[in-house]
Amino acid sequence: MPLKLIDHGSKEYKQMVEMRMQILRKPLGLSFTNEELVKEKDDVLIGAFEEEDMLGCCMLTKIDAETVRLRQMAVKTGLQGKGIGRVLMQFAENLARDRGYNRLIMHARKSVAGFYEKLGYKITGDEFVEVTIEHYTMEKIL
Ligand SMILES: CC(C)(COP(=O)(O)OP(=O)(O)OC[C@H]1O[C@@H](n2cnc3c(N)ncnc32)[C@H](O)[C@@H]1OP(=O)(O)O)[C@@H](O)C(=O)NCCC(=O)NCCS
Repeated sequence: MPLKLIDHGSKEYKQMVEMRMQILRKPLGLSFTNEELVKEKDDVLIGAFEEEDMLGCCMLTKIDAETVRLRQMAVKTGLQGKGIGRVLMQFAENLARDRGYNRLIMHARKSVAGFYEKLGYKITGDEFVEVTIEHYTMEKIL
């Protein structure tokens, strides 16, 4: 399963936005604003593919010289629970290390905190609501 960096505005980027819409936003009755998508020009965009098909995605946003934030982690419905999320996370962590970051944080949906815990992430604060659902901030020293 090849993992690729995606260029903002490319055909793969459009696939990525569509996947995120279907898996992360539509079920909550939400969408993306144009402003949100424009800002992603500065992010590291990652996709897992099988031929032309995108199986999963995530992105990294710089917080400061040491810290990067993982966002928009999603695996295609029907393919979840088969190890794709783990492979995406390992790729994102290696990339973050290679770029000199030593801490990875995220706002994890409470429903999937167990997934990140399996990969060594720890909850660092109280539960909060974002995009209408409960989240925790989680982090790992890389
Ligand atoms: C959360 C998500 C990215 C995980 O990816 P995935 O490909 O399904 O996960 P994997 O198959 O790689 O799972 C790795 C491990 O985590 C476990 N795991 C997966 N989802 C879990 C969950 N919701 N709660 C607890 N553990 C979970 C798996 O059982 C597996 O454990 P194992 O190695 O002991 O077998 C994916 O299920 C998804 O896209 N969910 C819907 C969108 C979402 O909630 N995204 C996250 C926003 S913060």
